[in-house]
Amino acid sequence: MLVELTLENIELLKGSFLLETRVKEDISNNPFAKYLVYLKSDKVIGYIYYSDIYERCEINQIEVTPEKRGLGIGSMLMEKLTSIVDKDITLEVRIDNEIAIKMYEKFGFNKKAIRKGYYNGTDGILMKRDNN
Ligand SMILES: CC(C)(COP(=O)(O)OP(=O)(O)OC[C@H]1O[C@@H](n2cnc3c(N)ncnc32)[C@H](O)[C@@H]1OP(=O)(O)O)[C@@H](O)C(=O)NCCC(=O)NCCS
Repeated sequence: MLVELTLENIELLKGSFLLETRVKEDISNNPFAKYLVYLKSDKVIGYIYYSDIYERCEINQIEVTPEKRGLGIGSMLMEKLTSIVDKDITLEVRIDNEIAIKMYEKFGFNKKAIRKGYYNGTDGILMKRDNN
């Protein structure tokens, strides 16, 4: 089940790999910060954290708990996001994160620019999905 986190349902994160305190701080202080979580048997096993800022959307992080990777949960989160966000979406990804790059390409993201040294000296790639 996919759920958007709010201050009302944030207790869903109790004991999860996504830290409740961090999410609480983000969504309390930043009106553009959004979290979609994937729940299985009341446990959060994946999330996508994005910023929905006027005419643009930026994916800040997507993560699935290590033991549940490769089972389609990342794709479900991406599908949900691309279906609810009716605008261009951008993100930065480490150049050596081949799995994530493949996933983003599967969802229509294209490589747009190299961000030299973006991740502590490792290059990043700016990717963009045009809304059409
Ligand atoms: C990236 C991540 C969220 C993907 O989640 P996931 O649930 O494993 O993804 P899915 O099973 O839905 O797979 C989505 C696509 O990713 C790619 N992929 C997934 N696992 C892969 C693997 N082992 N090798 C190559 N490509 C892979 C494929 O394109 C796959 O689509 P396909 O199954 O139709 O071929 C997950 O690997 C993760 O949490 N990684 C660590 C955090 C991270 O790097 N986040 C991205 C930061 S920018």
